[in-house]
Amino acid sequence: MNRYSRITGTGSYLPPRRLTNADLAAELAAKGVETSDEWIVERTGIRARHFAAPDVSSSDLGLQAARNALQAAGLQASDIDLIIVATSTPDMVFPSTATILQHKLGIAGCPAFDVQAVCSGFVYALTVADSLIKTGTASKALVIGAEVFSRILDFSDRTTCVLFGDGAGAVVLEASETPGILATDLHADGKHASILCVPGTVSGGKVLGDPLLKMDGQAVFKLAVGVLEDSARATLAKAGLQDADIDWLIPHQANIRIMQSTAKKLKLPLSKVVVTVDQHGNTSAASIPLAMDAAVRAGQIRKGDTLMLEGVGGGFTWGAVLLKY
Ligand code: ACO
Repeated sequence: MNRYSRITGTGSYLPPRRLTNADLAAELAAKGVETSDEWIVERTGIRARHFAAPDVSSSDLGLQAARNALQAAGLQASDIDLIIVATSTPDMVFPSTATILQHKLGIAGCPAFDVQAVCSGFVYALTVADSLIKTGTASKALVIGAEVFSRILDFSDRTTCVLFGDGAGAVVLEASETPGILATDLHADGKHASILCVPGTVSGGKVLGDPLLKMDGQAVFKLAVGVLEDSARATLAKAGLQDADIDWLIPHQANIRIMQSTAKKLKLPLSKVVVTVDQHGNTSAASIPLAMDAAVRAGQIRKGDTLMLEGVGGGFTWGAVLLKY
């Protein structure tokens, strides 16, 4: 009998503090940084984002999302035998955010680790969980994307600080006799590391280098558009499916223009693209499961739909997961 993995529950969580573009522009203006709702909406499609309170960490956001996903799957935390957290804003240098979250869930013993692939983190984590389920190492996994990107933003740099937000999304992935995950595709190319990075590090009790996000937006934009099309096509080919078989495209929510361009290349109408970037901004590894959960709970995504999840981000990393929901 073949063994596959299947998503049986989704969940998400956004910290309560919501800032519209106008709210953020007013806060930035007080610091002498000029931006506007018009500029942000026109260039990115973003209208609002959520920021976590100073004492709230990625594991706190991830915990709420995980609980919501467990409830949707009809499982208890004690049923889980694998936890993977995708994050680039971990609670600590170590231990992993996944182990901290495991403890907050009140369970112990199952493997728990982080995956660091920035905005591709969730498709990386889902692919790893799928592999561990297929090999029989795990049967019921929690795969979580959780970020507090507000902690690494330079609020004097208007070209980046308006783009990102905080949040978490989670799925329960269970072993199944039927797919489930149909095909996956992961890539990285470290030569592009400098176009999107947080170059600082901790050394000798100090932060060495700059601990805030740096991005060459135009270079990222060009790379993202190309690799998202390639990865979607490679994943479809592995599954023996066509563009038209996709019911919902759930791309990383960074910029509406990147999403529109990907949809056009895949000949998909925008009505088949899940869009939450307008309300969440770019939540990095959390953006795909946040968007998926929003579409599931809104009744857009239904059981049996074919979903194409696509991530792209720092590293440079990119990849896709094609699945039957
Ligand atoms: N408000 C007002 N004006 C601004 C702002 C702002 N927030 N930011 C930049 N500008 C100005 C610039 O100073 C520039 O002014 P100038 O012409 O007088 O010099 C002008 O707007 C145009 O700036 P560009 O950088 O050329 O604007 P562009 O159209 O390239 O848009 C953007 C910038 C939105 C960042 C775009 O390049 C982009 O979306 N890139 C992809 C970014 C992305 O998706 N990153 C995440 C992917 S991976 C991950 O998620 C980690």
